[in-house]
Amino acid sequence: MSSSLFSVPEIAPERLPDLLRSMPKAELHIHIEGSLEPELIFALAQRNGVVLPYASVEALRSAYAFSNLQSFLDIYYAGASVLMQEQDFYDMAYAYFVKAAQDKVLHTELFFDPQTHTARGVSMDTVVKGLHRACVAAQAELGVSASLIMCFLRHLSEEDAFETLEQALPYRDLIIGIGLDSGEVGNPPEKFARVFARCRALGFHLVAHAGEEGPPAYVWTALDLLKVERVDHGVQSSKDSALMQRLAKDRIALTVCPLSNLKLCVFPDLASHNLRQLLDAGLAATVNSDDPAYFGGYINDNFTQTFAATGLTAQHAYELGRNSFDASFIDASAKRLYIDQLKQAFEGFR
Ligand code: HPA
Ligand code: ZN
Repeated sequence: MSSSLFSVPEIAPERLPDLLRSMPKAELHIHIEGSLEPELIFALAQRNGVVLPYASVEALRSAYAFSNLQSFLDIYYAGASVLMQEQDFYDMAYAYFVKAAQDKVLHTELFFDPQTHTARGVSMDTVVKGLHRACVAAQAELGVSASLIMCFLRHLSEEDAFETLEQALPYRDLIIGIGLDSGEVGNPPEKFARVFARCRALGFHLVAHAGEEGPPAYVWTALDLLKVERVDHGVQSSKDSALMQRLAKDRIALTVCPLSNLKLCVFPDLASHNLRQLLDAGLAATVNSDDPAYFGGYINDNFTQTFAATGLTAQHAYELGRNSFDASFIDASAKRLYIDQLKQAFEGFR
């Protein structure tokens, strides 16, 4: 394995949380609309004259009790309805970048869901310009590099995805990749095979949510029909040993989101999470926050709580940090620089 060239120092378990918090990392699975904290939802609702079906920040937050993915998506799309102006998208993304910088995220690739906004009459121009302006500010003011991945909503039609792609083409240079999210079961990857082929021809990087709640078969078709470079979630892959071998052999990264899986009842508790099984089988797993405002934590909360619950080690921490940079869509020289910084952080912990 790649980490064999670097000998990870022994680190006492009680020092692991500090190591996890201070180690350089990339975040590759964050829906920017899922970073909208209830306080910002209320502030934007007031700014834009949007009436929310919740009386207070506390009432909204207390509605965050989910039984599965769909129960979350219903509230998540309602929360996003306060986003109207370019400045709203900027403010949302910048608030996330501040948290990311505190968590030692050096690079992040943000998902955004344009159809959630264009369906309400908010233009693609408003969405992309606001988010892009925040990405530029994150680099200049916080030292966080950031790029954008546009997701198609899989509960909508392929035709709608094609239209969304057309609307995005004027902003082609501001978007590095294409993803697929929303309700998974009943909306398999093959529904989007043609639009993903078009995106591939256009030179976009490709990712898709698969194997979050859906079966291993959806991970196979994401790989073989959509030709994705990373799988978002992918935790159901452990039910299929041939798939596990394929993912390990091709070093297909899984962007795992443990607190999301906990809150959406994919696993009954964090101790039962299969992150360790994925890593120990040689898969390029990473740790991410998914929708941090809804799932009770940003990326470092995901790291520290999962390590505490499952007994992962400093060796696993290094692999996760390294995988996050290796699996990112930055160029090889930037990857080397980040991975050098990761190694230095571990050396400093000796
Ligand atoms: N799964 C699918 N769609 C999503 C998610 C998720 O975890 N978060 C935001 N949209
Ligand atoms: Zn997600």
